[in-house]
Amino acid sequence: MSSNSQWSSRVGFILASAGSAIGLGAIWKFPFWAGANGGAAFIIPYIIFTFTIGVVLVMAEVAIGRKGRGSVVTALRSVGGPWYALMGALGVLTSFVILSYYSVVGGWCVAYLWDAVGGNVTISDPQILKDHFGNLVSNGYLNVGWHFAFLTLTCAVVIGGVEAGIERVSKYLMPMLFILMLAIIVRGLTLPGAWGGVEYLFNFQWENLTSNAILNAMGFTFFSLSLGGGILVTYGSYLPGKTSVPHSSLWIAVLAIQAAILAGLMIMPAVFAFGMEPNGGPGLVFITVPMIFSHVPFGSIFAFFFYVCLLVAALTSAVSLLEVVTAFMQNEWNLSRKKAVTINWVALFLLGSVSALSFGVWSDFTVGGRNFFDLLDYVCTNFMMPFGGLVIATLAGWKAWPVVREQFRIGNNFGPGILKVFHFILAFLAPILVLVAFYQGLFG
Ligand code: PFF
Repeated sequence: MSSNSQWSSRVGFILASAGSAIGLGAIWKFPFWAGANGGAAFIIPYIIFTFTIGVVLVMAEVAIGRKGRGSVVTALRSVGGPWYALMGALGVLTSFVILSYYSVVGGWCVAYLWDAVGGNVTISDPQILKDHFGNLVSNGYLNVGWHFAFLTLTCAVVIGGVEAGIERVSKYLMPMLFILMLAIIVRGLTLPGAWGGVEYLFNFQWENLTSNAILNAMGFTFFSLSLGGGILVTYGSYLPGKTSVPHSSLWIAVLAIQAAILAGLMIMPAVFAFGMEPNGGPGLVFITVPMIFSHVPFGSIFAFFFYVCLLVAALTSAVSLLEVVTAFMQNEWNLSRKKAVTINWVALFLLGSVSALSFGVWSDFTVGGRNFFDLLDYVCTNFMMPFGGLVIATLAGWKAWPVVREQFRIGNNFGPGILKVFHFILAFLAPILVLVAFYQGLFG
């Protein structure tokens, strides 16, 4: 999508933004983060954050993008001035860094799709599946190779234009992903012992509600809504002038949350039924889902379709991350789209390879117990994205509130009450929550 083009319709915008939101965050990350953070004690704050600061920040990002047009840097400069342009550049950096390690996980999806084509993923022995996943991630050549494959796919889509390819494909495959997930959930829930997983997800226990669980829930809210890295500013800049920003944003939030909850329901019951640990780490999805497939008739066919859909979900998110950086280079550095994507291809391959190797030969390099991959994820999710949210909140809530309010009003008949609520969230609630979370994360 070139920097002066527009979405063909409101639905096109919602689908693209939901495509960005729904990805590996919901399906890969949510189950194992919920598992590591006490289940419901993570999920409930996540839902609360999504429907308070999350959705209003989505609205603000889209509004600023539509008003400012161009890349995130261009838009923030035009709405907020030169300092905000600098903050926009930080958003570009955030998206770039996220994409570098996101692409490694995207590579795992390609690898499992490849296995599914060969009929090799419907295995019921948890040990074999664990070893298989461990082998994939610790073998440097394999891990870097699959990362390269996923990154190349992402670059090809972004060079080819977003609306023609990815929009059309996701229109069919995203609903199919939901249907497949529902089918897997039904099978998973009918396994003996599965109910423990549902209880784990929804049974709230006060002692699990640690400050860390809350910090992680807030970080995940930003991650799952694609907030704070300039994506929705960039996508908002392609939004036709008359579309209602609040309505579209609510849709994005609802779709994102339901994807995560469905993924939790898909994974956790199986974790309990097969006697695994809920805090099984990044391999959780790649180990439990194949086990469920081994318990259904025609499992390998299901597996094939599942990994196709998962790959598309990952791709639509990766594309949005790359679009932020590409739009920036086009607008600010006057590069052609092709050149911008090519530069990113090389740079992301190199940085992502360090993440890929951090599960194998470079696993000894750790900071605070985290390997390079985990470190990037931790910093981006818990600090850089919320910081991006803080920037948007201060711009929309203070400096540019009249402009943002006008954008919110387009296509809606809001009374003053609801606008005041939005204003309060942007000017006070979001900044305070982000600052408290930072404090807890650094000194708590
Ligand atoms: N929201 C995407 C997901 O949950 O998979 C990932 C993502 C996209 C994160 C864009 C951050 C971002 F800026």
